[in-house]
Amino acid sequence: MACGPKAMIGPSILNSDLSMLYDESEKMINSGADYLHLDVMDGHFVPNLTFGHPVVKCLRQKIPKSFFDMHMMVENPEKWVEAMADAGANQYTFHIEASKDVPALCRKIKEAGMKVGIGLKPGTDVSVVLPYGPLADMLLVMTVEPGFGGQKFMADMMSKVERLRTEFPLVNIEVDGGVSPANIDQCAKAGANMIVSGSAVVKSPQPAEVISQLKQAVQKVFPE
Ligand code: DX5
Ligand code: ZN
Repeated sequence: MACGPKAMIGPSILNSDLSMLYDESEKMINSGADYLHLDVMDGHFVPNLTFGHPVVKCLRQKIPKSFFDMHMMVENPEKWVEAMADAGANQYTFHIEASKDVPALCRKIKEAGMKVGIGLKPGTDVSVVLPYGPLADMLLVMTVEPGFGGQKFMADMMSKVERLRTEFPLVNIEVDGGVSPANIDQCAKAGANMIVSGSAVVKSPQPAEVISQLKQAVQKVFPE
């Protein structure tokens, strides 16, 4: 029986019609999404603004069951842990570049009842995260510069994914940014099992088909 990382597809709704956040999220869930990847930006860590815990709380009231992976592109990620847990977040993914005390933050997230995700910007060397791998449920390799959806996938990030998969065979490894059916095989082969895809899914007239294509590709490497 397989008990390692599972193939999971988490659409990012950043580039969808945000005036209909609930409907867009429901559409993704009904199209086969395994989880929702929610992009929080503070205008400081990245040059863009999105939404915060009050919006997440409202979404959680209408979507009681789905797994919410909070991608916290914020400075001082320590600040929002309790608020996000209270809003109903399941996983709190912070950027290693933004935290002053990574082990303390991981502990705080766990104590708040959430899973721990640690993200790396494209310019951050993979070695920076290695000491903290054992503290994480998920490691996120950004495949674009965080801040905006619809950017070009950076294939040279795959060496980071490979390194992390070698070091941590059982941890979830997520890729985020420009991921689509055109590059999913590279991501899966390198060792990514949690796949964020924004524009490729939400801009498609057939999101269910795109999600299924992505999932099948990842399942070839991570069978159920
Ligand atoms: C970028 C965000 C991503 C992004 C994904 O800062 O973290 O989650 O919205 O969208 P695509 O797949 O369009 O790059
Ligand atoms: Zn993201």
